[in-house]
Amino acid sequence: MDMKPERIAFLGLGAMGRTLARTLLEAGREVTVWNRTPGKAGDLVARGAREASDPGEAIDAGDLTVACLLDDASVRETLAPVLRELSGGPLVNLTSGSVRQARELARWLDGHGVRFLAGGILAVPQTVGTEAASVLYSGPRDLFDRVAPVLSPVGRPHWVGEDPGFASLYDMAALSGMYGMSAGADHAVALVHAEGGDVEAFKRDVLRPWMERMLPIIAGEADVSVSVPEEYNAAMQATGLENMISTSEEAGVPAELSGHLRASLWRMRRAIAAG
Ligand SMILES: NC(=O)c1ccc[n+]([C@@H]2O[C@H](COP(=O)([O-])OP(=O)(O)OC[C@H]3O[C@@H](n4cnc5c(N)ncnc54)[C@H](OP(=O)(O)O)[C@@H]3O)[C@@H](O)[C@H]2O)c1
Repeated sequence: MDMKPERIAFLGLGAMGRTLARTLLEAGREVTVWNRTPGKAGDLVARGAREASDPGEAIDAGDLTVACLLDDASVRETLAPVLRELSGGPLVNLTSGSVRQARELARWLDGHGVRFLAGGILAVPQTVGTEAASVLYSGPRDLFDRVAPVLSPVGRPHWVGEDPGFASLYDMAALSGMYGMSAGADHAVALVHAEGGDVEAFKRDVLRPWMERMLPIIAGEADVSVSVPEEYNAAMQATGLENMISTSEEAGVPAELSGHLRASLWRMRRAIAAG
């Protein structure tokens, strides 16, 4: 692979794609962009990007192709007509999808001689290019080593394994952890609101400092089994969870919002039953 790292073909100028492309341009990369619907490249062209009229033209102008499209179907639809142009040159897919989709995409591309790195963006457009952004990659390590410095301006590159499904796996799992925390915080605030508490003071003085102190423990003790760590008193924890669920029911908070409490109670009861 003879790669001049600064020449990037960028496919997809949605909210995320546009931000990634702009960040790469600002970092001095040479970027040729393409988007299905024309007219979205104006500000990027003003910053020095070239706009291609079709994906093949963009790919031909780059030594590395990056796709950031809506979903797996849009990636396949976009790439199917240009597999010949892609062959040999590396492709990085920063489009979110499932683990199976990433593995099947890797097999499909491999069958056409395309070297492929799967990606998962742990950022939102507002944090791209900042310390808060990281990008998960999986696929051949040597490819990651060559591509990571090129794409590092968008977010800290983090290789998570050879399996092309692992970037999606870690991405989806990390998001699952985040949504769990966010569901817990929403539930907490709904409780305080329903019972007439001062929501802003609760968030600022109680919830946030409490969650910050608990975060390392929560992440460190997350467990694949239904058992609980030995030092836990499962019966006491189960009673505590029952109290939280009662408080939620008394406050009239919808049961869907307390799903995380019911899941934890289920886990504690399984641990008690298992002795
Ligand atoms: N936004 C975020 O906060 C965020 C965070 C992490 C990861 N991501 C991931 O990044 C990817 C892009 O997100 P986004 O926020 O940029 O989404 P978006 O704003 O909805 O943009 C979607 C992009 O996909 C293109 N597209 C859709 N269907 C297509 C098709 N059939 N063929 C070709 N192009 C097609 C759209 O082109 P048109 O302009 O022609 O419609 C547009 O460029 C997604 O997989 C998303 O999950 C986003």
